[in-house]
Amino acid sequence: MPEIGPHLLGIDGLTRGQVDFVLETAEQFVEVSERNVKKVPTLRGKTVINLFLEPSTRTRSSFEIAGKRLSADVINVSGSSSSTTKGETLVDTAMNLHSMRPDIVVIRHPAAGAPHLIAKHLKNAAVVNAGDGLHEHPSQALLDALSIKQRLGRLEGLTMTIVGDSLRARVARSNILLHRLYGNKIRLVAPPTLAVREFEELGVEVFHEMGPALKGADVVMSLRMKHEYLKDFFVPNLDEYSRRFIVSEPVLKQYCPDCIVLAPGPIIRGTEITSEVADGPRSLIMKQVTNGVAVRMAVLFLLCVGRGAHWEDVDVAAAKEQAAA
Ligand code: CP
Repeated sequence: MPEIGPHLLGIDGLTRGQVDFVLETAEQFVEVSERNVKKVPTLRGKTVINLFLEPSTRTRSSFEIAGKRLSADVINVSGSSSSTTKGETLVDTAMNLHSMRPDIVVIRHPAAGAPHLIAKHLKNAAVVNAGDGLHEHPSQALLDALSIKQRLGRLEGLTMTIVGDSLRARVARSNILLHRLYGNKIRLVAPPTLAVREFEELGVEVFHEMGPALKGADVVMSLRMKHEYLKDFFVPNLDEYSRRFIVSEPVLKQYCPDCIVLAPGPIIRGTEITSEVADGPRSLIMKQVTNGVAVRMAVLFLLCVGRGAHWEDVDVAAAKEQAAA
């Protein structure tokens, strides 16, 4: 029987049963955000620290909202305002925050493995990876999966095409690891300089042309094209990239007319995706953001309330409404 936690460091290591359970739990939290009073007492008396040492709009705010909707006390520490700017090490920062007895530390960090490092030092708090360098972004893959499941009614039997910058690979890697659990076909399409060949070892088909990569896809995921890559000459210029790789209605209509489109955000309109697609009926982009709150509520809840319990023993419906005190 799988156990909850003690941390959420990646999709790597999770079973399909565990992913299903997080998604089922998240489905139960979706309606809390639709209420007039968007709050349940589930995590009253618990403390969540958001330690974000890299910029974020969606992930940081949705972990904060998720914690607050569960009645936890949420504290935000950002890179620019933290003592890491004075030379304090990450482990020292984490140990000091740990001394204030948080129940969960959510961390985003530019270095791959940073959440794993602090998880080794925090004995009494769960650590959640909110994006570590080029490595993983597990809560993003979970909210993507919830959005796909809601729209298509299933998570298996799918062909997913990930378009673009897989060097910024953490969203791609977490999605690939998750969809492997469901036996889905996963394709990646990017210029050769931006296609991570190691993904082929995970069973991903790598393409450099949109047509064959998109043909018959159920799900298209558009990744952000980093302007920083221009200076490193990964692409000669963004116009040329867009001419070949932009996710547009004509190309989707031609190769995968019924596909849905996701993007983790931020999106760069006109470079990697057109506004017609981003704002159109196949787009789940805003739904992904909405679902981010429910998925992060589920993650905080399962790591906090379910800590040490067997997943099957957790009565989500009852705990949701019950004061933890
Ligand atoms: N998708 C995502 O991680 O967005 P943020 O960088 O704004 O958190």
